Amino acid sequence: MLADVIVDLQYGDCGKGKVASHLCGINDYTHVIRYNGGCNAGHTIYHNGHKLVTHHIPCGVLHGVKSIIGPGCVLNVDQFFKEIEELESAGVKTKDLIKIASNVHIITDFHMIQDSKDTKIGTTKRGNGPAYRDKYDRKGMIALEMPMLAEYIIDMYDELYNNQEFDEIKILFEGAQGFGLDIDWGDYPYVTSSHCTVGSAVLNGVPPQCIRDVWGIAKIYETYVGSKNFQGVDAILHEIADVGQEFGATTGRPRQTNWLDMDLLSKATRINGVNKMVINKVDVLEEVDFWKLYEGPHALEFSSKKDMQNHILDTMKNICPTIEVFFSGNKDKI
Ligand code: IMP
Ligand code: MG
Repeated sequence: MLADVIVDLQYGDCGKGKVASHLCGINDYTHVIRYNGGCNAGHTIYHNGHKLVTHHIPCGVLHGVKSIIGPGCVLNVDQFFKEIEELESAGVKTKDLIKIASNVHIITDFHMIQDSKDTKIGTTKRGNGPAYRDKYDRKGMIALEMPMLAEYIIDMYDELYNNQEFDEIKILFEGAQGFGLDIDWGDYPYVTSSHCTVGSAVLNGVPPQCIRDVWGIAKIYETYVGSKNFQGVDAILHEIADVGQEFGATTGRPRQTNWLDMDLLSKATRINGVNKMVINKVDVLEEVDFWKLYEGPHALEFSSKKDMQNHILDTMKNICPTIEVFFSGNKDKI
């Protein structure tokens, strides 16, 4: 068995969907597995001229690859069926390709109502936190109990260990949210209710020795949506948010924007064992032509894109000498 894992190194919305789609196009994966989160996530993918936003369903389906909502996820059944409809009407064949692990926890209407009352965290109000709370309180309902999901249900162990030659299985793990929102590593309580690190992928049933590449995804500036104060002081950051169209894919909320934080990037790179990195949205900073980041207590300004990229590359090479870093300035290519 072999697995590549995609992790977001910041606060979500770094372009994981694009990288997942790219990797599906160049590797012969047998499975794409979402390993955390629920419909709080919004993955924007440009596919055959259509802009598609998926919340639950992994992008593998766009490439004809079996796509699994893994046991670490929580699921809103109505949203799931809505997404299948949207994919089908964009011409994407979903039949027999989309599966749900039997022990995925269900987001109920009650969870949605409770989450809608949140004022403290600034959640996406998708019932995510209450669903995980009930899971850990051992009060939750699982996908296996929902008759309307019967045709989609799989047993994760059977799927990975009893269905196909072990050696033939090649998985892409697609994460949701990001390191800065991780329940243990994020800025608690301004976090989501699941694990957003590489460990979370392993929890979905794959031995750690099988992991080949850990793809860490970041943006060349940072955005965050939620209640804490995150917006940087420089006025140009508003222009960057405009150019970068920084509005939530799930809620449409404007994303607070700040410069790249090298300390967070380094920490996330180390803890996830990132060996391939994509830094997205370089074109956005190019358009405003302003190059700045934070490192320790300092803000560093660079006179050119090249200088800033080299600085990032040097820092990352210090952490992982064999790391490959790709700077991307295109919304449908790396
Ligand atoms: P929740 O996951 O809906 O409970 O929200 C908790 C925090 O995570 C809030 O600050 C949300 O805005 C943020 N969040 C959750 N999912 C995403 C995502 O996919 N992208 C960006 N932020 C997210
Ligand atoms: Mg998103």
